[in-house]
Amino acid sequence: MPSSLDPPVLAVRALAKSFEDRLLWSGVSLELNAGQSAALIGPSGSGKTTLLNCLCGVDFADSGEVHLSGHRLDAAQPAQATELRRRQVGLVFQFFHLLPTLSASENIELPMQLLGWEKSRRRQRLAEIIERIGLGHRAHALPSQLSGGEMQRVAIARAVVHQPALILADEPTGNLDARTGEAVLQLLVDLVREQGCALLMVTHSEQAAARCDQCLSMQPWLAA
Ligand SMILES: Nc1ncnc2c1ncn2[C@@H]1O[C@H](COP(=O)(O)OP(=O)(O)O)[C@@H](O)[C@H]1O
Ligand SMILES: [Mg+2]
Repeated sequence: MPSSLDPPVLAVRALAKSFEDRLLWSGVSLELNAGQSAALIGPSGSGKTTLLNCLCGVDFADSGEVHLSGHRLDAAQPAQATELRRRQVGLVFQFFHLLPTLSASENIELPMQLLGWEKSRRRQRLAEIIERIGLGHRAHALPSQLSGGEMQRVAIARAVVHQPALILADEPTGNLDARTGEAVLQLLVDLVREQGCALLMVTHSEQAAARCDQCLSMQPWLAA
């Protein structure tokens, strides 16, 4: 169980990023503890995806600090940054990003394989999570054989399966119809709560933002 003595899951201090001579954002600071959720809203092009990339070591800011569960990500060597991301972060994307040649269960198994979990532990966790997302009967289906909602359920399972501290979700319902999106959002919020993860979710949906504890906004002037 997380305690008040634990470092925040995510601590961001005075982060700034430019592309060439154009300032994308600056002065970005935020903190999320275990079990806390935040929505990130802002117009297209305001740098939300770039920010998420900088919070998991896929991209790097020009200045400022990113700490994941007390580990400094921004100053980490590439191999350390990859290791931190694999352990600490689960990612959910708008367009699912499932590997097309792997089945639903193989996609979900990947993060556990990358962390070197033993086969019996992987199998046990896989059976548990695939039932939890209601897709036990579709475990062997390829992504192309699944609906959009089913693909995003698989992607959410893949994001949480190794029990990372932080889930970063980039418009997770943006490619789904309203009803499917609502069900998928419910699953994401429930799983995050059950596992005690922190969640940072980019969304254009007011209903989705309202499901989070706080709402952070990219200032439009930064996007100009
Ligand atoms: N590697 C890059 N080089 C130059 N500009 C980039 C790069 N990646 C993103 N951008 C630009 O940064 C801006 C913010 O992009 P993005 O983070 O995708 O915004 P959002 O997710 O809020 O729509 C866009 O104008 C985009 O073209
Ligand atoms: Mg984006």
